[in-house]
Amino acid sequence: MSERDPKLIKRREFIWNLGFGSIGISIGGASILSLQYLKPNVLFEAPTKFKAGRSEEYQPGSITVNVERKVYIVRKKEGSFYALSSVCTHLGCITNYQSAVKRIACPCHGSLFDLEGNVLSGPAPRSLKRILIEQNDRGVLVVDTSVDVSEDYVLRV
Ligand code: FES
Repeated sequence: MSERDPKLIKRREFIWNLGFGSIGISIGGASILSLQYLKPNVLFEAPTKFKAGRSEEYQPGSITVNVERKVYIVRKKEGSFYALSSVCTHLGCITNYQSAVKRIACPCHGSLFDLEGNVLSGPAPRSLKRILIEQNDRGVLVVDTSVDVSEDYVLRV
């Protein structure tokens, strides 16, 4: 009869434990990756639609800059509204309203726009984007920067 070597048993146990441990770690890692795959990979952006206050808050013949939303809200002298994107149509810089000369200027390459958003001087290839402005049933102006409208669109209030 031969007796088992206690060192051999310990070595064998160690190898078994190492093997099972490796398999456990592999299964755990694969499970985590699988769960991450099931989670939607969504980019959260600020909503494109926002409330811009009541029409009475805007003086006729005024232009209001919403820096955060990159929008100009223009109220014409006769009271109607339109909204322009402040993003330059050349390479996407944010334009500035120059109240002294009543122009919109791009600081990057010098494009100039009138208050209707038309290009006065390049290199901007197109007018500033006119975007949707509406009045909801509570009398609040609502702007949606994701909706382009025609260049003659105005909101009459
Ligand atoms: S980005 Fe406005 S002129 Fe170039």
